[in-house]
Amino acid sequence: MRTVYVNGEFVPENEAKISIFDRGLLFSDAVYEVTAMLDGKLVDNDGHLARLERSLSELDMKSPVTNEQLITLQHQLAEKNNLVEGFIYLQVSRGAEDRDFNYGEDLQPSLIMFTQARSIIDTPKAKTGIKVKTVEDIRWQRRDIKTTMLLAQSLAKKQAIRQGFDDAWMVEDGVVTEGSSNNAYIITHNDEIYTRPASNKILNGITRRAVNKLAEQNNLKVIEETFSVEQAKQAKEAFATSASYFVMPVVEIDKHRINNGKPGELTTQLRNLYISMAKS
Ligand code: PDD
Repeated sequence: MRTVYVNGEFVPENEAKISIFDRGLLFSDAVYEVTAMLDGKLVDNDGHLARLERSLSELDMKSPVTNEQLITLQHQLAEKNNLVEGFIYLQVSRGAEDRDFNYGEDLQPSLIMFTQARSIIDTPKAKTGIKVKTVEDIRWQRRDIKTTMLLAQSLAKKQAIRQGFDDAWMVEDGVVTEGSSNNAYIITHNDEIYTRPASNKILNGITRRAVNKLAEQNNLKVIEETFSVEQAKQAKEAFATSASYFVMPVVEIDKHRINNGKPGELTTQLRNLYISMAKS
């Protein structure tokens, strides 16, 4: 049984309570972050907390705690759950009040946190790579804000998995936006790495930013431009990044094999570079 955090208290998961009037529940009026933990160390947590601040500010929301307090809580929670490898999920909602589209301006925001123990490094998919299905991106226009409004992504992933794929890549106007819960990349036959530029059309991943930097430091060319599904199918390699994937090889797009269905060389190099950084 896990210990979770709810508004100032650490409690067993089956005793955790939140109001049924919480706006996170009624309106998805909440933002969140997922930080990976590796060997007991939080990975790129500064980036996640900086993005949390941005998400809150874009939605005119407040955090109930400071970033310093949040870091202390993350470590306390990890310790209470003996988390060595996995994730810490945290969510801030605008607060609870009687249901009203015109939200109150002085609500007390709520904060919940829990851990998920998972193998990130030795996960089998990292060795085989994943198969993705492209689906229409039906989300709203502020995908740069990390809100809990995730139904479109959840439906996309479920549809992909039901049809024998591992994940979905979302497509708008013929170009890939991003994965269901990750950023999408391709590598061309002249070793140029393409990923969509940060804008309101995608979530600017913390892993994405680190991977782009690591690539450049290792003399790999990153081009932040959109790419089409056709370009993706013609690519030499493909991969996806997120706090839970790190760098995940993509070996099939809509049943079209990439790199003969094997994780690519540069993708593997980038995965190893990211793991070394995460462990350092
Ligand atoms: N998802 N794009 C979307 C739509 C995402 O939901 C995520 C992360 C990313 C990658 O961001 P980062 O590198 O900061 O994890 C991109 C998390 C992992 C989730 O919802 O579980």
